[in-house]
Formats: sequence, structure tokens, C-alpha cells
Amino acid sequence: MHDRQEPPSGIHPLLSGRFSPYRFDPSAVVDDHALGLLLEAARWAPSAGNSQPWGFFTGRPGEPEHDRILPHLAPSSARWATDAGLLVVALTRRHVDDSQLLYSEFADYDLGQAVAHLTVQAQAMGLAAHQFRAFDMEGLTKELDPNPGWAIVSMVAVGKAADAPAEGRTRHSVAHLRSAPWSRVE
Ligand SMILES: Cc1cc2nc3c(=O)[nH]c(=O)nc-3n(C[C@H](O)[C@H](O)[C@H](O)COP(=O)(O)O)c2cc1C
Repeated sequence: MHDRQEPPSGIHPLLSGRFSPYRFDPSAVVDDHALGLLLEAARWAPSAGNSQPWGFFTGRPGEPEHDRILPHLAPSSARWATDAGLLVVALTRRHVDDSQLLYSEFADYDLGQAVAHLTVQAQAMGLAAHQFRAFDMEGLTKELDPNPGWAIVSMVAVGKAADAPAEGRTRHSVAHLRSAPWSRVE
């Protein structure tokens, strides 16, 4: 079911070289220019009906925004995310104001795609991104107090990787994803 441990050389190096670091270089700064490019990459992602249902709260070490995020990291992610040059909180607009009416049924899908663009842009800039959900969602939501209809989905740590890809990275095989588990046909 699982395919090779290393991505094949045929896919684009920006994709094959990407991995989620568990160590960041604390001395590597993500400057304003780099931050702007990362958000531009997210901004130019496609979305259903061009709804662009995403928003990003960012904080870099030394900024008050960073201090607002840090207390809400789970210990498991604080270990490495604290050293990243940039923390991004990814929000989506799921609902119309505080009603149950969906703003877009594809809101989370679209946000994921915008974050994927950001991670590839980071890779192109010699940075690396580690997405994570290990944070106190309730506490961070209270802290950021997003507008009605908006919800925090995930976080991303971006910075200079200070380690190599983890041992034993695996993926389902191409054959697996083309059939099992969704297909009724063996
Ligand atoms: C939505 C999402 C949530 C994730 N949450 C965590 C997390 O809480 N902690 C963690 O260490 N990694 C987290 N990851 C990273 C994944 O574990 C990682 O992408 C996966 O193991 C594949 O490894 P790679 O990115 O190095 O290819 C998350 C990734 C995504 C996309």
C-alpha cells in the first residue's frame, strides 16, 4: 500500500524537496518582503467562484502578534514552531456572518489550496513550512476573536529548516490512490 520513502525525481523539485521540518533555525528571519511574497502566493490561489474565503494572522518573533499566538501552541508543536521565523494562523470564512448559511461549501478546500501555494512559495524562497493543528483552538479563537462566519482551521510555521526530512516518510502508492479505498471495484 505504501510507496517509496523518497519522492521520485520526475516530479518538480519544489514538490519533491518539500518536507515539514521539526527544527527551524532561530536566527533566520522572515523579512517583510518574504512575508509579502508568501501571502501573495496564497492570494493567487484558485477558489470556488473566486470566493477567496481565507484570512491569515501572522506573527514573527519579537512582534506582539507572535506573543499572542505562542501561549496557545500545544507543547508538541511549541518544541519546534517557536523557533520558526513566522507563524501563520489560517482562517476560513465558512458561514455568512453568524448564520448557519454556508458562505461556500468549498471554504476549507479553498483555504487548504491557498496554504499549499504558500508552502510551495516558501520552498522556492529557500524556506520551509510545517503545517500543524496542535494548538489550543478554543484559546486561540478567544484571543483572535474572528468576525462572525470566520473560523481558525490550522497553523503554519515557516522558516529556515534546520533538519532533514524525517526518517520513514511514506505515502500511499499511486495504484492505491487510484482505486482503494474509495472504489467498489477490486
Ligand atoms: C492540516 C495539517 C495538520 C497537521 N498537524 C500537525 C501537527 O499538529 N503536528 C505535526 O507535527 N505535524 C502536523 N502536520 C504535518 C504532517 O504530519 C506532515 O505534513 C505529514 O506527516 C507528511 O510529512 P511531510 O510534510 O514532511 O511530507 C499537519 C499537516 C497538515 C496538512
